[in-house]
Amino acid sequence: PMKQRLLVVANRLPVSAVRLGEDSWSLDISAGGLVSALLGVRDVDAKWIGWAGVNVPDEVGQRALTKALAEKRCIPVFLDEEIVHQYYNGYCNNILWPLFHYLGLPQEDRLATTRSFQSQFDAYKKANQMFADVVNQHYEDGDVVWCHDYHLMFLPKCLKDFDSKMKVGWFLHTPFPSSEIHRTLPSRSELLRSVLAADLVGFHTYDYARHFVSACTRILGLEGTPEGVEDQGKLTRVAAFPIGIDSERFKRALEFPAVKVHINELKQRFTGRKVMLGVDRLDMIKGIPQKILAFEKFLEENPAWRDKVVLLQIAVPTRTDVPEYQKLTSQVHEIVGRINGRFGTLTAVPIHHLDRSLDFHALCALYAVTDVALVTSLRDGMNLVSYEFVACQGAKKGVLILSEFAGAAQSLGAGALLVNPWNITEVANSIAYALNMPADEREKRHRHNYAHVTTHTAQDWAETFVSELNDTVVEAQLRT
Ligand code: UDP
Ligand code: G6P
Repeated sequence: PMKQRLLVVANRLPVSAVRLGEDSWSLDISAGGLVSALLGVRDVDAKWIGWAGVNVPDEVGQRALTKALAEKRCIPVFLDEEIVHQYYNGYCNNILWPLFHYLGLPQEDRLATTRSFQSQFDAYKKANQMFADVVNQHYEDGDVVWCHDYHLMFLPKCLKDFDSKMKVGWFLHTPFPSSEIHRTLPSRSELLRSVLAADLVGFHTYDYARHFVSACTRILGLEGTPEGVEDQGKLTRVAAFPIGIDSERFKRALEFPAVKVHINELKQRFTGRKVMLGVDRLDMIKGIPQKILAFEKFLEENPAWRDKVVLLQIAVPTRTDVPEYQKLTSQVHEIVGRINGRFGTLTAVPIHHLDRSLDFHALCALYAVTDVALVTSLRDGMNLVSYEFVACQGAKKGVLILSEFAGAAQSLGAGALLVNPWNITEVANSIAYALNMPADEREKRHRHNYAHVTTHTAQDWAETFVSELNDTVVEAQLRT
């Protein structure tokens, strides 16, 4: 029998394009948890539909890029500069992203955003329709269409308007906030209704799913059931599908000779010092300033540790056209500079801050040599960095300090040291505790996390979602 085809639709394709010439392109792997998780899914007959991260105004360029992407099973959606500005930088990343992470808008942007809200929301709907048009061109009867993330909340409705029999799932990679937060969105109802057009709606945690259902009951007045949300006899199934990683891929990487060489270099480079690691996109939600201030407090209070520990912070540049992200970059640089000035010596600094991404092998090596990983997200859908660190710690069995506001706190809570990232005294104390932790406690905690990370994979996540989607559609047909 033919395997069922899967169309994965996400704003961000797994590869981002860089233009080399009129008709030549190079493709780099995109950063972020959504892409990592989906790349961890194997053996499905999947095609990707999404944006390649560049503006391609000319037809020659579009044709060449479409061809280059086809080799990666990717199909591009071409968004022009104005749409990217209003939809991606504006509505998605300046409104929905901070709101879904409980951050709100910066004070000085509030009124400006209020005024531009309608035009940005119009651009959002227009962009979603552009994604839908590409899906419709490639859709064949029986395909499963899986839409991803806050960029595409309008897409399920566009797709069902085109073909009400299409099997449509939608998965949110961020938190879904309390209904009291969602209510503040001027487009609150329209967004919820469009998502409800899907057959199956999925979240990382049970809490996010519950928030979504209560937003639908309180804001739309619909009925919430244990299965999902019901509107005049039509059920939209809502459930939690916690994502995972391809842990084998990380374990395999650690066996590559080049990676082993790199691990040894890093060990030598940092002999006599414990290595603490942060890996984050340079995003407000990651609590990077809070993390660094907590580290400063730890150094302040533990003079004996000052030349025996180093914090490596990999800060991957992201959404650099959005002013809030630019501000964050300078803020972080300022704090890092101050602390290195204060505690640095002629031969060493306490914080190595890198504004760049790392390739997969360099990242694995870094995870493997780390003694303590620090994840201080103020909110985070899941946080795959914490999973990846655990997967690479088979030998070292280091400590994970993890924000209680990351989705991962629900799965790795038993092994990690959970902290409130806003409480820098607590984080500083946890750093001290982690660095001094006896080996047997470290091993026990690691075992917990490792068992979870290696048994809850990206593969299982995707299979469970898709089979649940198929079942949901069959059950709906039986009901009518
Ligand atoms: N990552 C990356 N490039 C880097 C460093 C990290 O692509 O230079 C990956 C990392 O391996 C992880 C993802 O980015 O898979 C981050 O996912 P996470 O869920 O932690 O956070 P998100 O960026 O999605 O908010
Ligand atoms: C998060 C979002 C993803 C997004 C990623 C990177 O993980 O949930 O949808 O792709 O960040 O952000 P970017 O804006 O570069 O796609």
